[in-house]
Amino acid sequence: MTDYNEATSLEESTAPLAGATGLEELEMGAEAPKVDDKKMINSRADLNQLVPFKYKWAWQKYLDGCANHWMPNEINMSLDVALWKDPNGLSDDERMIFERAMGFFSTADSLVANNLVLAIYRHITNPECRQYLLRQAFEEALHTHSYQYIVESLGLDEARIFNMYREVPAVSHKAAWSLKYTQSLNDPNFKTGTPEADRRLLRDLIAFYVIFEGIFFYVGFSQILSMGRRNKLVGSSEQLQYILRDESMHVNFGVDVINQIKIENPHLWDDAFQKEAIAMVKEGVELECRYATDTMPRGILGLNAAVFQEYVKFIANRRCVQIGLPEQYQNVSNPFPWMSELMDLKKEKNFFETRVIEYQAGGTLNWDE
Ligand SMILES: [Fe+2]
Ligand SMILES: [Fe+2]
Repeated sequence: MTDYNEATSLEESTAPLAGATGLEELEMGAEAPKVDDKKMINSRADLNQLVPFKYKWAWQKYLDGCANHWMPNEINMSLDVALWKDPNGLSDDERMIFERAMGFFSTADSLVANNLVLAIYRHITNPECRQYLLRQAFEEALHTHSYQYIVESLGLDEARIFNMYREVPAVSHKAAWSLKYTQSLNDPNFKTGTPEADRRLLRDLIAFYVIFEGIFFYVGFSQILSMGRRNKLVGSSEQLQYILRDESMHVNFGVDVINQIKIENPHLWDDAFQKEAIAMVKEGVELECRYATDTMPRGILGLNAAVFQEYVKFIANRRCVQIGLPEQYQNVSNPFPWMSELMDLKKEKNFFETRVIEYQAGGTLNWDE
């Protein structure tokens, strides 16, 4: 007869020192958590108590994300509809770029959202960071909503657009590359707490925050936004501007999480792992450069694949530096300084502030009325 108790205690004694999940039995009479007990991974401090804050930057990003709230279907699409329906409104090349971008983005944000809720969330043992992850997950839902709204407004073939990540190689390669990192953490027995397991989590964070959201979005964003700058598809472009603003905050949050894990667990960030991280960034750059060539065989608006490839390398250098790795590409500069301006909210006061103020005012209930 099997002794289950013995089996359990044996399992427990060899199990890694994983962090709490928030599902533990309530420990009646236990003291409130202390700041010093809180850690990014492998913390046993109660995850259901948001305060006291340890990572004030995470809470601030949550507040900033809420202040930037927007809804896709509030953006007027009538000019886009008229332009799309006009047989002379756009060139074939412009239509292909736009449809490919919708093809990539329409499933990309679901891949990111799934990674957040099915892979990352469980293993981040800090409640203020989890609060941001929940906000981010909602923003990813809004982004998918945005693509659905654009596809519906323009009357695009929804099955063709949403299925593109299983049909067009340049789109599917990026999706498949990222999916394997989510799958790596999806084993129900996976726990952090050993260097090997903690590095598995770090790999996923790098794959999604630094490469997927930090590099894979940028050719598509800059293609559509450069059309918007020329007054083409301005409603779609406005939505992408809001999405870009959200995404640049997601990247910054992910970079902060990765760097905090490094500070708390310096042993994880050894030479071999740094080489691996660099190799991942380079793979990402290759895939994104291929996407640029594939979507722009001839170039548009005076722009061509080579310019976008330089932009990808410029972005990749920046991502490397953000997580403490050396730049990997020499002699590259930013061919799209206007993209950086779009990401810097202070320079876009008029464009963004009206809406932010509207939302903040609209969010306050007035009980006297
Ligand atoms: Fe997104
Ligand atoms: Fe995102």
